[in-house]
Amino acid sequence: MSLKMKSTFLWGGAVSNVQAEGSIAAGGKGLNVYDTLDVVPERGQRSIGDVNLASNHYRQYSEDIALMKEMGFKAYRFSIVWSRIHPNGEEETPNKEGLAYYDKMVDELIAAGIEPVASLVHFDMPDHLAKAYNGFLNKKTIDLYVRHVEQVVEHFKNKITWWITYNELNTAPFESMSGLVAGVHRPEGMSKPQFFHDIFYNTMLASSRATNIIKRINPNAHVSGMMTLNRVFAERNDSNDRLAAFIVNEFTHDLYADVFATGQYPDFYKRWLDLNGIDWCADDMAELVKASVSSDYLPVSLYQTRVIRFDRSIASVGDINEVLFEVPTQPNPALSASHWGWTIDPVGFRQELGMLYQRVGKPLFIVENGIGLEERNSLEENLENQERINYHNTYILNMQRAVHLDGTDIIGYLVWSPIDILSSHKEMGKRYGFIFVGPAQDDGSMPRYRTAALDWYRDVIAAGGVDDDEE
Ligand code: BG6
Repeated sequence: MSLKMKSTFLWGGAVSNVQAEGSIAAGGKGLNVYDTLDVVPERGQRSIGDVNLASNHYRQYSEDIALMKEMGFKAYRFSIVWSRIHPNGEEETPNKEGLAYYDKMVDELIAAGIEPVASLVHFDMPDHLAKAYNGFLNKKTIDLYVRHVEQVVEHFKNKITWWITYNELNTAPFESMSGLVAGVHRPEGMSKPQFFHDIFYNTMLASSRATNIIKRINPNAHVSGMMTLNRVFAERNDSNDRLAAFIVNEFTHDLYADVFATGQYPDFYKRWLDLNGIDWCADDMAELVKASVSSDYLPVSLYQTRVIRFDRSIASVGDINEVLFEVPTQPNPALSASHWGWTIDPVGFRQELGMLYQRVGKPLFIVENGIGLEERNSLEENLENQERINYHNTYILNMQRAVHLDGTDIIGYLVWSPIDILSSHKEMGKRYGFIFVGPAQDDGSMPRYRTAALDWYRDVIAAGGVDDDEE
């Protein structure tokens, strides 16, 4: 049996433009939350790069698109940076220079035969909205976001049909990510459960309103909010560890999957809100329900799985909250991991895709998967990135098995990232690229180099997948 993918499968790659573009003040752009982020370095991080330079993609995107074409990309996911279009978020009309910039980029993609897949929020909320309103904690930000989306989509409606309303919604309510993802910090005196719910609800409402508007503007558009898959397993074969893992996954995966699928809160979540004394109003759910019906696919990212340990019984809502907000998860000691401790778990990937598809019942689009590798000392070593090839080979193989053996519907696979870009923690030495980006030259340009992974991926795309040697 051939495990290759159909010819319509969307092979390609993805970036977030704030991590790639640089030129943070060009073309009337305003600062956003990524530009101003005060990085708390992640485990293993060695340096903090320059956001004004990043990969100089702002000026060199044509070169990058040409190399993507060479790899045979069918689709490319990028973000239309919110603060390039509405520099402080409150302008009534869009910044023409910002629109013109993405117009040219999208035209080049289309000319190269590459389907544009556009993200509408990816770490790019205008800094002003974060500072003045505490981001998505304030309903005013939702209205400003919706106006932004409407103007962007009206402008691009004849060129872009694939939309992602919001990157990795299920990271927004957790304080380690909420500043970057939702422009928000928990106010003093607000409980963690209340914060969780307010951010969960406000960002899902924003994404749902955006989904409904996009479908109104173009009924043929493919649109959805997005989630990341980072399932937690029990560290030991122990019932309390297993229950703790189950609870974390309920709030980080099942809650989102259910709302994407039906627009309704699952029972475990309603009970948790009641136990924490949090009010919620069923009348406000209409936009979520409508979006769940009109959105026709679910975009997901996946990089790692984790494990959790909990040494006593979970016997009160306080224990549940402790598991959710206080107990750190860890890399899986039974599997290998990247330098940054991100567990490599391709079989977990297949299992995760199957579980999610069975829960949601919509085709899944893998819009990010990749491995951060340490930058090497010599250019040659950087170009021979065999570890990247091995990583994607096993993940693609497991995706093919998910499709052909498990019946999981998957419509595309986008690697993170075609080019080296800054990490979410602004580290350039954490390399993801199939195209290696060298240091800035005197004229400010950054040379692009084809790596071994580029040749390998071109052949995989041409063949429709990887061989299953264990067949
Ligand atoms: C995803 C984000 O979660 O992970 C990306 O959508 C991010 O923006 C990617 O870059 C990889 O994570 P990191 O922290 O290594 O950049």
